Amino acid sequence: MVTVKSRHWGTLKDGRPARLFELSNGVVTVRISDFGGIITSVLAPDRNGVPDDIILGYDTVARYEDDDAYMGAMVGRYANRIKGGSFTLGGTTYRLTKNEGENQLHGGTGFHKQLWAAEALADGVVLRLHSPDGADGFPGNADVTAVVRLSGPETNRLSALFTAVSDKDTVFNLTNHAYFNLRCLGDILGHKVRLNADRYTPVDNSLIPTGEIRAVAGTEFDFTNTRIIENGFYDHNFVLSGGDNPAAYVVEPETGRTLSVYTTMPGIQFYCGGSLTPRKGKHGDIGRYGGFCLEPQFFPNSPNVPHFPSCAVLAGELYRQEIVYIFGTEL
Ligand code: BGC
Repeated sequence: MVTVKSRHWGTLKDGRPARLFELSNGVVTVRISDFGGIITSVLAPDRNGVPDDIILGYDTVARYEDDDAYMGAMVGRYANRIKGGSFTLGGTTYRLTKNEGENQLHGGTGFHKQLWAAEALADGVVLRLHSPDGADGFPGNADVTAVVRLSGPETNRLSALFTAVSDKDTVFNLTNHAYFNLRCLGDILGHKVRLNADRYTPVDNSLIPTGEIRAVAGTEFDFTNTRIIENGFYDHNFVLSGGDNPAAYVVEPETGRTLSVYTTMPGIQFYCGGSLTPRKGKHGDIGRYGGFCLEPQFFPNSPNVPHFPSCAVLAGELYRQEIVYIFGTEL
């Protein structure tokens, strides 16, 4: 049995009200806003049943409006980077908003700072966003939906189902950018991570994939067996192998908390918060490596790399991808 409550959360700079939805199954409680579709907190029990908040973030919507780290947000129209802020589709070259040097990151102005239309469900919330033709340079009037649901306490499964349609051929790459810290304080070094990926996409010095798809075997990118995060330099897309295994499995040894991530998407960005500058968070100081992101996605810069899985969606066609997080414990 899941309960869903909603309340006024704060007022945006333009005067519009933002809401906060609370989904609870009695064991796990998730809070999510219609502003940016931001997951502001997940209270999950440790191995002794003691709940704590495993999501990095802020107390107020005003802090999220000023945030530079995409904390907890739904990102789009294209998560991750597009080289040169441009791509060609169907013979037309589209010039996008550039927000990281010459490149575009996370959709430019993006979806993460928009107020989505939200509606409560019996076990979750539906978020809807209209993105006009040409917004941030992307083609097509797009209607995007994220359905976020929490399961009962037997599985503690939080799912986000993304669907989108456009009236022109376009690209979509939608994901969530939550930073997790299963210990709920300090940094995430010491967490143990397994990824269902025997290949990854090496990057250049602006974090754009070189186009190579390289085996992880024998390298520090080999997470096919559980690996302790000793060094937080990771900010890479891993090529998911598919099958029934979770795309990612994380365990925090001190608290026993675990996170499993499943997805229909072909890749996952594993980012250890290496660019997080010091800031005050809702539970105290946040610093470098304060949280990790596991962002299921199409590979970075796919619109410009023909041999990467295609993120192109034809006019009228349905884009449909899912992310599932499962919160658990290990003894
Ligand atoms: C990227 C990082 C970037 C961060 C921004 C992540 O998805 O992989 O390179 O710094 O987003 O917060």
